[in-house]
Amino acid sequence: MALTDDIEDIRSSFSDALESAGDDLEELESLRIQYLGRKGKVQQLFSLIGQADPEERPKIGKLINDLKEEVTDKLESAKAQAEAAKERKEAEIDVTLPGVQPFVGHDHPLALTMDKMQQIFTSLGFVTMEGPEIETDYYNFESLNIPKDHPARDMQDTFYIEDEIVLRTHTSPVQVRVMENYDPPVRIIVPGRVYRNEAVSARSNCLFYQIEGLYVDEDVTFADLKGTLQQFIHRFFGKDAKIRFRPDFFPFTEPSVEIDISCFICGGSGCRLCKNEGWLEILGAGMVDPNVFQYAGYDPEKYTGFAFGMGVDRIALMKYGVHDIRLLYDSDLRFLRQF
Ligand code: DAH
Repeated sequence: MALTDDIEDIRSSFSDALESAGDDLEELESLRIQYLGRKGKVQQLFSLIGQADPEERPKIGKLINDLKEEVTDKLESAKAQAEAAKERKEAEIDVTLPGVQPFVGHDHPLALTMDKMQQIFTSLGFVTMEGPEIETDYYNFESLNIPKDHPARDMQDTFYIEDEIVLRTHTSPVQVRVMENYDPPVRIIVPGRVYRNEAVSARSNCLFYQIEGLYVDEDVTFADLKGTLQQFIHRFFGKDAKIRFRPDFFPFTEPSVEIDISCFICGGSGCRLCKNEGWLEILGAGMVDPNVFQYAGYDPEKYTGFAFGMGVDRIALMKYGVHDIRLLYDSDLRFLRQF
């Protein structure tokens, strides 16, 4: 009977060993040698048959054969399974494939333009300030020397929210807000969004960006204005950019100027962007009107200052050679991915 016990022992030890080998192909191979090899455990059982009673021998022989078959089958299917697992694992990551480039976003051309402008003014000592886009009539007009019946109100088509509340038509109201809160000297720029009730076209949109500037101290002169803006334009557009100052009128500055830059889409010969003029107006500026100082609570006898306001969109169009302002607002990735 001892031999049948041995058979059962080997069956169960094989079963345990098989389980702990799992999907390890090397382990399975060593099991095969251990059990089915020439000197393996199953083979050795055959050599013990001679010790059994002669009439038991056929039965025992069959038991050992069954065990051998069982061990062979189980090993075979474990091996097949292990091989399939290995293949699956190898298929998961092919480290030899080139990587997939992830799509990385980047700044919008308007943001790029605004950042560059801001950097230049920061290096010239200007501090960045902000103000509300929903503004009162008082800050947007009145305190900038534009009373209710002033014809200059027609210069800017205004979106009214209520009687006295507007979407700011320019960043200039932040001048007064800052002067109310800080004593001179102030040297600030104000980047931000402004709104005008205008027909949308290649050249104008109902919302756009401006950068306002204000420098107030004792003895600030028109020469400071010219020097600062000249410096900015040369740093931003390069030394070859030609600029010209033209007398103009703004209610909040006296005297006032408009500054043009030579159109560098057409190089001055005339194109759609510059309306065939060869020049593009990019900036309004002037010496702060004493009335504005009075509204803001500064002594106009003691202080002088200059202010300027420029359209960021138009400058971005020129910088990147884009012909239509609407492209800046369409969010078309085919356009935006070019920057
Ligand atoms: N606020 C004016 C506009 O939107 C631009 C401007 C002109 C701003 C002259 C100024 C300035 O500060 O001095 O048309």
